[in-house]
Amino acid sequence: MTWNWYRRMRNFVKNARRAEEKTPDARDFADENDGPPAPVDDSARESASAAEKIYINLGIDFGTSFTKVGFWDSNEETIIVTFEACGKDEEIFSPEEAMIPSIVSVGDDGTLSMAPASAEFSGVQERYLKIRLAEIEKSGLLTDNEKKTRALSSWFLATVVLRAQEWIRQNEEERLRGHEAAWSANVGVPVEYCDSPAIDTFREALFVAWTWAENDEIPGTLESAISLYEETVRSFDPDRCEHYKCQPAAEVVAGARSFLLSGEAKPETYVYFDVGGGTVDGVVFNYQNPGGTQRVDVYSAKVAALGISEVAKRIGREGADLFNDDLAPEVCESLEPVGEEVQQFVSDVILAANKKIGKGKWIQRQEDIRIFLGGGGGNSKWYRESVHSAYEEHCFGACDIPRFQEAAVPEPRKGLDMREMKGRGVFYRFAIAYGLSVPKAEGPKIELASRIEPAPDPEPWTPPFGRYEDSKDSSSD
Ligand SMILES: Nc1ncnc2c1ncn2[C@@H]1O[C@H](COP(=O)(O)OP(=O)(O)OP(=O)(O)O)[C@@H](O)[C@H]1O
Ligand SMILES: [Mg+2]
Repeated sequence: MTWNWYRRMRNFVKNARRAEEKTPDARDFADENDGPPAPVDDSARESASAAEKIYINLGIDFGTSFTKVGFWDSNEETIIVTFEACGKDEEIFSPEEAMIPSIVSVGDDGTLSMAPASAEFSGVQERYLKIRLAEIEKSGLLTDNEKKTRALSSWFLATVVLRAQEWIRQNEEERLRGHEAAWSANVGVPVEYCDSPAIDTFREALFVAWTWAENDEIPGTLESAISLYEETVRSFDPDRCEHYKCQPAAEVVAGARSFLLSGEAKPETYVYFDVGGGTVDGVVFNYQNPGGTQRVDVYSAKVAALGISEVAKRIGREGADLFNDDLAPEVCESLEPVGEEVQQFVSDVILAANKKIGKGKWIQRQEDIRIFLGGGGGNSKWYRESVHSAYEEHCFGACDIPRFQEAAVPEPRKGLDMREMKGRGVFYRFAIAYGLSVPKAEGPKIELASRIEPAPDPEPWTPPFGRYEDSKDSSSD
């Protein structure tokens, strides 16, 4: 408490000085080493009451099927926002009630509402917004469909922000009492898009969503959402976007962070697969802690449309069918080609990392690699086995890749409150929301794959007398 107070005061003084030079913003929250942003407005600078602000950072795991939210505050603890599950008794609890389905219902008259729609609803249910957003081509004119996707995504995220804020105000009255809340957010984006031009589309849509939520100005219909998007986005400044209060962040890297925050990590290289509904994200990361300075290098990061619901769709089944430990032989058979695609994806992720690490170096450093499987699909035995079988199928042993060792996504021992879900073994579904909620300044410094140079190929070995080819030729003579 004393330390927090000291930190806040120190930040207040430091940032009040800095505020004279520039307008502080979310980047202070995201990148600097001194915790949440300082008060930004003049009244705050003039009055010590600014010290009573409470900084709340939302971690929004914007899933293709479900959106999960956690929030972190200046007391350095994350609480999972449990939405409808709040206060429900044990009998009727389901983790999905603590999530928001990532669907927008568009009524026949264009009215927008969150799913699930009522039985009488007639209209369209818009799904897969995150993936549709990532696929928007920035060059050239946007199609009507792309304009709709942007507007619906911003509408959805703005509504999630308002619902989370309302939940926090209602359920965390004590925490907020006597404080003025200063909000910011990190929103999850598949890692491959963080390293690609698609990130610009996300930045823009997040800016619009955050502006609507801040002004409490959420359009009621699809048509008004499309036109308000055009209007709001005019204030978007690509040169300042890193300073906005709502930032995109790599989902699976947030999963990796949640592992590091659990305090169980030792310095080595790990693999994390987030098996969602629509996509699977894979990342290989190396954790170092020289002299107490945590650092993570992301050696490879990829995404594929091989989420659990997507796999089920491909074989004409329901997602739930793939969670059965004993799959019927005909199901196994129809899954075979998709299983091979999963193995290929695993191979792409692992081999891309191996290239950066350098030939033979991985196995020299560690005998096993811990592989975490998070996301809803991470609990499917079929999916886990498909990931593990890639080792044999793609002959990783011959490439000097350490053996795979399955590991559970560890629930942090402190700094996290799962509320109704505590002890129910569902942390793996919320690990990314947790990782996103903790401000970047509180975790390790993370370098993404594109910024890590591949290890140089080792010099070809030359025998002491003459070249190998020469000696081979001479021996065969
Ligand atoms: N025990 C289970 N039985 C049936 N389905 C399940 C079970 N556990 C999880 N699922 C399903 O797994 C899917 C993936 O869940 P998750 O919340 O990780 O996806 P997401 O984050 O929305 O997707 P993505 O990460 O691809 O954007 C969901 O469709 C969920 O319903
Ligand atoms: Mg997900």
